Amino acid sequence: MFQLTRSVTWQALERLRDKTHNDRIRDYFTQDAQRFEKMSLRVGGLFLDYSKHHVSDEVLTKLLELADHSALVQRRAQMFSGDIINVTENRPVLHTALRNPGDTPVHVDGKDVMPEITRTREQIKAFSEAVRSGEWKGYSGKPIKDVVNIGIGGSDLGPNMAVRALLKYRHPELHFHFVSNVDGTHIQKVLSRLDPATTLFIVSTKTFSTQETLLNAKTARRWFLEHAGEGADVGAHFIAASTNRKAAMEFGIREENVFEFWAWVGGRYSMWSSIGLPIALSIGFEGFIELLEGAHEMDRHFIEAPFSQNMPVLMALIGIWYINFIGAETQAIVPYDQALNQLPSFLQQLDMESNGKSVDIFGHPVSYKTGPIVWGQTGSNGQHAFFQLLHQGTRYVPIDFIASLKPESGMEEHHFALLTNMLAQANAFMEGSQGDAQELSQDPYSCPGNRPSSTLLLDELTPRNLGALIALYEHKVFVQGVIWNINSFDQWGVQLGKRIAGEISERIDTNAADFDASTQGLLELVRAHF
Ligand code: F6P
Repeated sequence: MFQLTRSVTWQALERLRDKTHNDRIRDYFTQDAQRFEKMSLRVGGLFLDYSKHHVSDEVLTKLLELADHSALVQRRAQMFSGDIINVTENRPVLHTALRNPGDTPVHVDGKDVMPEITRTREQIKAFSEAVRSGEWKGYSGKPIKDVVNIGIGGSDLGPNMAVRALLKYRHPELHFHFVSNVDGTHIQKVLSRLDPATTLFIVSTKTFSTQETLLNAKTARRWFLEHAGEGADVGAHFIAASTNRKAAMEFGIREENVFEFWAWVGGRYSMWSSIGLPIALSIGFEGFIELLEGAHEMDRHFIEAPFSQNMPVLMALIGIWYINFIGAETQAIVPYDQALNQLPSFLQQLDMESNGKSVDIFGHPVSYKTGPIVWGQTGSNGQHAFFQLLHQGTRYVPIDFIASLKPESGMEEHHFALLTNMLAQANAFMEGSQGDAQELSQDPYSCPGNRPSSTLLLDELTPRNLGALIALYEHKVFVQGVIWNINSFDQWGVQLGKRIAGEISERIDTNAADFDASTQGLLELVRAHF
């Protein structure tokens, strides 16, 4: 049986790790005046500079060989054509079909899914236009002013991140709120500011069975009826994005207001489906389509570009180099853009829920590291919080810097300061303290440098470019999953937590003797409060 770590390429990469261990990234630039030109590329409105990595030409060549020798070409084709690649859940993985602009058929179980996708898109169009124009009225005849998305995980993070990122395109009369946490303070705080007559709730849940979302939705419905009066029309204020039409209707949502999607859309890949409804409501249907088009453009690039010029493939391979050969445990995401402040959380779920696996697609334990810990926050804030550790701590943390060239704020002076800070940091991480080498070597407080980063520049933070950016990371995660031979599309660990939460709440009144002593002891303390 094929063993990744025994492959010739893997072993060559291990030797190259030893050979290049003491290389200085900055020396790569001295040795090759063309390095920046060679190690940067543009796809549409996205520009990636990957030259500031501890990756020599030889290493890059071998990493590309790793991709060539993997099942990537085959698995990529399988994903786009609707084959069952989520083997443990026996499903295709077709978020890419959701952004397919044409009528090119995509088959699932012999049935073309494009007509259903087009129909739901039309439903999103009609609904978002009705709400945005004020034609959609609440129970008292007033138009909608506040939209509350109730969902968690993939049914929250994508639309939440995108609505915030594209705030400058928002409908001026509509305000957006996202309730995810089962902690009652979350929904309480949001509801306390709202008028039921002008509020629309979107119950976003793929399964319509997630405890947190159902509890929040019931609380919202109770609040609505208490404030609007028992007879008020729930159907005019509650809609759902779900694959479970029946459960949504049992909740009180009108059949025509259930915005469908399908089992073959993974939760963390669902912002392109009706889970993206808040985005369409906020920026308009045309804007939503531009988001899909940007993602589709990245899909085309991912399919068509040779690996050596393929943005997601290159990012994935560089990640693999750090994780599997250099020993990096984490990947920092630092957007120098306040509008992207939810991006690290979104990418955290995308990457960690997808590639946080330790068995391969056959269920055999893997003998190498898989997905990294993904974390981060906006710059320049992060500079004054965790950058110290990145500069001088004992950990090795590759960083993705992300920024938009055009200022969101229109405030040139601020934007100049923002971007120059980012460039300064990327430079400082690579160069370390500058000055006389002799003096530096004797200064224990100097910064060692030689710390790697990518820089991703968006021409502007538009729906199209955001779509491309998210699709880029989706495919990066996919490529890594293929090379590690894991299933990036299930999440059994999360399911276990969901199941045990159910068991514990069922047994709150009984003597739960079969839990461990610690859980029992803690449960006693909790029980005393109910
Ligand atoms: O976190 C696990 C998960 O299954 C995610 O993949 C999903 O996005 C989230 O729970 C919410 O699930 P649902 O949309 O079914 O409520």
